[in-house]
Amino acid sequence: MNIRRKVKLSFVVIVLMLVFLGLVSTVITYQVKENSNFRAKVSHIVILQEGMNDILVESIKINDLEKLEKLKIEFAQYENDFEVLRRELSQIKKLTLANLVIENLRQDKMVKHYLEEFYTNEHTIELIYDEIFQREREKLQNIHVFDTFYPEENKLRIVIQTKILESNNVEQIKELGNLRYHSKELLYQKSENEILEKWLSNIERLIVLATQAKQEELKNTLIDYRVVAQNIGEKAIRIEAIRKIENESILRVSNILDSNKALSMALEKNISQSSNTFVDKMRLIQLLVGISVVLLIIILAFKVSRNVSLTMDEVEAKIEEGLVEVNALNAEIEDTQREIIFTMGAIGERRSKETGNHVKRVAEYCKILALHYGLDEQESEMLKLASPMHDIGKIAIPDTVLNKPGRFDEEERRIMDTHSMMGYEMLKHSTRPLLKMAAIVAKEHHEKYDGTGYPDNKIGEEIHIYGRITALADVFDALGSARVYKPAWDDEKIFALFKEERGKHFDPKLVDIFFEHLGEFLHVRNNMKD
Ligand SMILES: [Fe+2]
Ligand SMILES: [Fe+2]
Repeated sequence: MNIRRKVKLSFVVIVLMLVFLGLVSTVITYQVKENSNFRAKVSHIVILQEGMNDILVESIKINDLEKLEKLKIEFAQYENDFEVLRRELSQIKKLTLANLVIENLRQDKMVKHYLEEFYTNEHTIELIYDEIFQREREKLQNIHVFDTFYPEENKLRIVIQTKILESNNVEQIKELGNLRYHSKELLYQKSENEILEKWLSNIERLIVLATQAKQEELKNTLIDYRVVAQNIGEKAIRIEAIRKIENESILRVSNILDSNKALSMALEKNISQSSNTFVDKMRLIQLLVGISVVLLIIILAFKVSRNVSLTMDEVEAKIEEGLVEVNALNAEIEDTQREIIFTMGAIGERRSKETGNHVKRVAEYCKILALHYGLDEQESEMLKLASPMHDIGKIAIPDTVLNKPGRFDEEERRIMDTHSMMGYEMLKHSTRPLLKMAAIVAKEHHEKYDGTGYPDNKIGEEIHIYGRITALADVFDALGSARVYKPAWDDEKIFALFKEERGKHFDPKLVDIFFEHLGEFLHVRNNMKD
């Protein structure tokens, strides 16, 4: 896999991990909120239950039926709210992804267990409340009846007492004492059936005594009193029984209350612990994912830098290797070209009996002129390579003309002059820049600045600069070299001719350059003697 794909893939992985981190954070935030909601609901349900317990205790103490009914409605409202909360707490919200990574308080076993116990206790309290409500209502109704009959009993008893005391009957007085004792005991101390029986039998005996004494009025009053005593006695017994049951209920409720207090404390502690464990776990997950992302980025950065530097090194090495090869090839090609050109040039010169070094010197002169004229190093070097072929066309000139001793006649001169065009024809088809340059040199090296040269009688700068340069270089070397048909000219004569031909045969600028840098030309000539 290349480095780009690795980097891309790593970025995708990092982005995915960051998305995962974001997701975990979202889920945590959601669940923390959810858990805190759950906690609030649990607290609420505990408060509701405490309220219900308060109502229960208050109901027992109350003496007013109307108030009791009001409390019953209030209790029912609490029951209703409790049931709603209970249903909400029992719901387990399914959040598959969340459940994978986080802890749901609703699913905590201990929390569930405590809640269940809490609900059971609540149910018991509700049952007790219903029971207490029924009993309390009955008790209050009984008290109502009791309170109604109580003044009646008092009134009748005083009437009976007055009548018996008036009659002065010893047995009746004695029985009256027992009656007063039992009525007080039953109504204020021991509300039991046994006492009621005794009380009723006191009344019964007094009725018998009144009948025997033929006290009709007293007897009738006693009969009325018996009804009242029966009634009030039964109510007193019932009220006392209810009180006992209620006290037992209060004890039971009190126990449940204690149990619930312990439960809610345990529940709160458990929720708090679970929440802390949960938050710690989540922080650990976040930390681990965060560290993984940072590590991945570090590894990626390391790999990228290593790969990039490796690649750069490889590229540099390959470029260097390639450059060496290209340079070697170029050198090889240049050497070959130079050799071919010199050889071709030499062939042309040899045919016209020129010396081997003529073309080499002309090449050097051309370069010196080109550089000082203003051509760049590369073009000047190319001209140096191309110029030796200026007389290549001579290979097409018949020997009879080429090697003729003495002067040419007109026809022979015409044939001889065709060598420039011949050379051009030979080279013009090449697409190589060097050979194209050589073609120009071959064609134009006999043109003259004043337009009297050949083959096209070009004038001034119509003549290519390559032609103008080679013309001067060729003539300078030819005049300074000895030939079979002539001795070498001395420098004075050559310089005089050059001054004479400035602007005629030669480009005046080039003549000026020649004289300005004469030393360089002479230096070449000395180093490359025939
Ligand atoms: Fe020539
Ligand atoms: Fe020449």
